[in-house]
Amino acid sequence: MRKQTYSLLFALLLISMGSFAQTTISLQTDQAKTTISKEIYGHFAEHLGRCIYGGIFVGEDSDISNIQGYREDVMGALKDMHIPLLRWPGGCFADTYHWKDGIGPRQNRPSIVNVNWGGVTEDNSFGTHEFLNFCELIGAEPYVNINVGSGTVQEASEWVEYVTSSNVSPMTDLRKKNGREKPWDVKFWGIGNENWGCGGNMTPEYYADLYNRFATYCHGDLYRIAGGPNVADYNWMEVLMQKTTRHRHLVQGVSLHYYTFTTAWEDKGSATDFDEKGWFSVLNKTLRMDELITKHSAIMDKYDPEKKIGLIVDEWGDWFNVEEGTNPGFLYQQNTLRDALVAGINLNIFNNHSDRVKMANIAQMVNVLQSVILTKDDQMVLTPTYFVFKMYAVHQDAKLIPLNLNTEDYELDGKKIPAVSASASEKDGVVSVTLCNLNPNKSETVDFDISGMDFNTSSGEIITAENMNDYNDFDTKEKVTLKSFEVNKPKKGKLSIELPAKSVVLVQLQ
Ligand code: AHR
Repeated sequence: MRKQTYSLLFALLLISMGSFAQTTISLQTDQAKTTISKEIYGHFAEHLGRCIYGGIFVGEDSDISNIQGYREDVMGALKDMHIPLLRWPGGCFADTYHWKDGIGPRQNRPSIVNVNWGGVTEDNSFGTHEFLNFCELIGAEPYVNINVGSGTVQEASEWVEYVTSSNVSPMTDLRKKNGREKPWDVKFWGIGNENWGCGGNMTPEYYADLYNRFATYCHGDLYRIAGGPNVADYNWMEVLMQKTTRHRHLVQGVSLHYYTFTTAWEDKGSATDFDEKGWFSVLNKTLRMDELITKHSAIMDKYDPEKKIGLIVDEWGDWFNVEEGTNPGFLYQQNTLRDALVAGINLNIFNNHSDRVKMANIAQMVNVLQSVILTKDDQMVLTPTYFVFKMYAVHQDAKLIPLNLNTEDYELDGKKIPAVSASASEKDGVVSVTLCNLNPNKSETVDFDISGMDFNTSSGEIITAENMNDYNDFDTKEKVTLKSFEVNKPKKGKLSIELPAKSVVLVQLQ
């Protein structure tokens, strides 16, 4: 009795000293019904800076080891990460892109100016064939974004025909002449990008009418994605849903763009040089994704209560100042442990909303914004964000396990955010839980309640580092990486783990 009183007093003392934190998670394994689309783990590659040229494609004559002109190291890393889907060619670039410039013999392709990104010359050596063949080689589904801003309906219609048709037509003849006999299997087509901004500065009413017109002539069994709102533009979502769902068969998805960046466009802060304030504010802004999805989904529910239309978050991620000495139009930034947390939190949010969120694409895959891969000449670095995608691959096409999460607050300067973010899924009898501890100062005791299933084995993985702004560079490639994490076997449906400060963790039970 006395011993119990002492331990209770000791626990109370620890709590009051703030060195002991407690989170409870109860997994509703009997409610695992919704599939987490593997496309939530999608990526985005735009003709921007060194994403395509230098990052993916170096050409057959390059000294850098390549297969058909594609970097061998990057291809290997993407396959290891289980990349399920890739969006191309933009972004803002998409609404300036005329696809016929990028087909046929390379020496005959015209050079154009990349007006959005640094005004550099685009020689069109990476075009439709190069993109679709690349997707085949890395085993990713392609997602092609059509030009609405400066393109025509005929151009869009012919692109779809060129790529997907097996009939006899001028476009299929042209494709065969250019060396591709069989059509490619391309389901996902975006119709315009950011049409409220770089994609034509349109009103939602005007864009929705244009969307209906373009979508009508993009023939086939396609997954058509309408250019949706920027951040919290709920009016855009309302008008778009109202006008496009009148022709329900023409809309399968609506996009949403939300980047995590500071409010000042001129100074977005450093990707690597930040203090705890910078850590807190970025994670706080990341959590806003949940509110945006909830509110946009509520509008979609009015027009599509059965949730048949996907919310496609086809641009998300951190956006900081470019690395010193690099072209400001190339958006090249480093990637720290903070970015790993941003990725982990966002992916947990997407998983937990997988009844509506059917795809998401981090911006961008290589050398641009929150990349999973950075390259310098023939060298390659895998960023902390890469390891999060690798770790979370277990959720792809798994069944979402709804959870009740009760967590402490992480508090700084009077502001509070939840200390722990989590999501869980089940696939082939394996339960996987991914957790982020947002607090950089305190570990968190997490108590799980997982009744209704028996487990024989348990394992775990962790991504963390000594400092919150640690990153991998070309001379220190392994500073932030995946390590194994010890997890005990649950006893009678109960399991407890100590979630280290500033970490992303995977717990697996079988
Ligand atoms: O990802 C960089 C740019 O951000 C994209 O081109 C555009 O769609 C967005 O504004």
